[in-house]
Amino acid sequence: MCGIIGITSLPNNLREPIGKVVRRCLERLEYRGYDSVGIAVIKGNSIEVRKGKGKIVEVNARLNFDEVSGTTAIGHTRWATHGKPSDENAHPHTDCTGSVAVVHNGIISNFLELKEELIRKGHVFKSETDTEVVAHLIEEYLRLGYKPFDAFKAALSRLKGAYAFVVAIAQEPNRLYFARNTSPLVIGIGNGANFVASDIPAFLEFTNMVIVLRDGEYGYIEPGKVYIEKDGVPVNVEERIRLISWTPEMASKEGYPHFMLKEIHEQPFAISSTLAGINEREFDNVVNLLLNSRRVLIIGAGTSYHAGLIGDYLLTTMLGLDIHAVISSEYKKYVNTINEDDAVIAISQSGETIDTLVAVRAFKERGAKVVAVSNVIDSAIPRESNYVLYTRAGPEIGVAATKTFTTQLVILTILTLRAGIAMGRLDQGEYRNLMDSLNKAPGLLQNVIARTEGRVKALSEYMKSRNNAYYLGRGIGVPLSMEGALKLKEIAYIHAEAYPAGESKHGPIALVEEGYPVVFSILDDDNVDALLGNVMEMKARDAYTIGFVPEKYVGKFRELLSVTFELPNIDYRIAPIIYIVPMQLLAYYTAVARGYDPDKPRNLAKTVTVE
Ligand code: AGP
Repeated sequence: MCGIIGITSLPNNLREPIGKVVRRCLERLEYRGYDSVGIAVIKGNSIEVRKGKGKIVEVNARLNFDEVSGTTAIGHTRWATHGKPSDENAHPHTDCTGSVAVVHNGIISNFLELKEELIRKGHVFKSETDTEVVAHLIEEYLRLGYKPFDAFKAALSRLKGAYAFVVAIAQEPNRLYFARNTSPLVIGIGNGANFVASDIPAFLEFTNMVIVLRDGEYGYIEPGKVYIEKDGVPVNVEERIRLISWTPEMASKEGYPHFMLKEIHEQPFAISSTLAGINEREFDNVVNLLLNSRRVLIIGAGTSYHAGLIGDYLLTTMLGLDIHAVISSEYKKYVNTINEDDAVIAISQSGETIDTLVAVRAFKERGAKVVAVSNVIDSAIPRESNYVLYTRAGPEIGVAATKTFTTQLVILTILTLRAGIAMGRLDQGEYRNLMDSLNKAPGLLQNVIARTEGRVKALSEYMKSRNNAYYLGRGIGVPLSMEGALKLKEIAYIHAEAYPAGESKHGPIALVEEGYPVVFSILDDDNVDALLGNVMEMKARDAYTIGFVPEKYVGKFRELLSVTFELPNIDYRIAPIIYIVPMQLLAYYTAVARGYDPDKPRNLAKTVTVE
C-alpha cells in the first residue's frame, strides 16, 4: 500500500510552487508507506523527476521538492512491494524517453511477462518494480502512433492485478490520466485545480468535493475538467460528486476514530491483496525446503508467535511434520541442537523485532535455512533470511496487530496446503475445497464485521468494568484464544489469560466467580462436545460466558452462554482468520469504553527493537 497524488492547476492558482503542494499532500498519505518518495512535474515537453529513498522530510531536505514550479505534477510515497526501497525503485517511474511518468499503488501480477516482452522490443528498465512496465507500455503504443489517451487505455488493457495509477505524459502538459482496479483512488474537484489521490486527506485542505472512483474506472483530469470512463462508456461525473465533512487529521484515518478500527475493517482487502500477491516461485522453494528438512521451528513474538502456533497446528495435524513453535526470546532451548538439516520460519510483521532477528542469526549461524514471513519489504529479518513470504496488509500503524495477524494466517495456511499436495498428504479435492474457503474469507469477513460489530460494542459496556478474563479454546482454538486475550491485555489493560479449556479444572477455575468473563472459541472440529462441557463448568460457577460459535452449533450453545456470537460455518483450519476479528473488535471497543487510546497503548511500541 503506497500513497499517490496528481494535481493539474491553472497557472498561479496554487499560490506556491506545485512541488511544495505535492510534498504536503504526500505527508498526509505517509501513514500508507514511508520508505521512499518522489515527485514529477511537467516542464514544457519534458518531465522533471526528483525521487529518493527515505521519509518525505529527509528526501525533501536532500532534493528540495518545495522549489519545483509548474502546473501539472504527480507524487508518490512508497511501501515497497516489488524491489527494495532505493532511489531507483522509488516512484515516479518513467519510460525510455522520459516523457511518460507513472505513480502506482498496488501489484501488477503479470508484470514479469510484460517486462520480458518490452525488453525484447528494446526497452531499457531502470528499476526492479512492477510499476515501470506501465511507463514503457504507454511509450510503446505512443511509438505505434496512438493518441495519448488511447495509448493509456491500450496499456491498461494489458495489465492484471490490483492497481491505482496516475500518469503524466509530456505532450499533454495540462492533463493527468488515472485508473483504478481494487486499490483506492479518489478525485478532488477544486477551484482552478483538480486532484487525484489514494486518499482524501491528501487534498482536503483544497477541497472537500470528491468522487470516489470505482473498480474498472479510468479517465483524466485537467484544471477545469474531470473525465471518467468504464468499459468505454463515459460516466456521469456530476452524479458522483460527494461533499466530505472531515478534518484533514481525521481523514488520515479515513474517517475512523482510530487506526486500529480502520485496520480491523481493512482485513477483507488485506487478505485479498495477500492472496493476489503470492510469489509462486518463492512458495515452491519454501515447500521444497519444508519437505527436505528434519525439523521446522516457527519463531515469533507476541501476535506473530500466536500466528506461528496456528501454523504449527496446521503443519503438524495435516502433514505430520516435526514442527516446534518457539517464542523468539526463548530460542536458546533449541540453539544447541539445530543444524543444516533444520528449517526456521521467522514471523514478524515489522521485520525488525530484535528478539526474532537475534534468533534468526543464531539459527543461521548453525546452518539452518530461514524463511521470513513479513509485512515490510526489505526489513531486517527478510533481508537476513534465505526465503521470504510477504503478507500484503499495507502499513499497520495501530500498535495492536490486527490485519497483519490474519494475513500471516493466510500465508501459513497456503504453505500447509501446498506442502500437503507436494507430500501427497492432501488430495486435489481437499486442496481445492480449502483454497475455496480461503478465497471466500474476505467476503465472509466483511459480513461478520457488519453483523457483529454493534453487538460487540454493546458487550464492551460490560467488559469495561472487569479486570480479569479467561479466553478458552481447544485444538486450533487455543492459539486463537491466546491472540484474543493478548488484544484485550495490550489495549484495554484487562488481565486476560488464555489456556486450553481442558485445563480449567486443574486450577484456573478457582478464580471464577459470579460475572467473571470467560470467552470461548468454538470451532467446527471434534472438540465441540468437550467445549460444551467446559461451558457448563463455567456456567455452574455463574461465570459470564461469551461464545464465538459456528451457526450450526448455536442451537447447542445459546442456552448455556451469556452472550452468543453466531459466526459462519467454515472449515476449522480457515476459521481463525475470521473468528479472531470480533475478538479484535471486543478489545478495541472495551479500550475505548475505558477511555484509552487504542492506537498508542501505554508502554508499547509498534516495533520492539530492544531485547
Ligand atoms: C501485537 O499486537 C503487538 N504489537 C506485539 O505483540 C507484536 O506482535 C510483537 O511485538 C511482534 O511484532 P512483529 O510481528 O513486528 O515482529
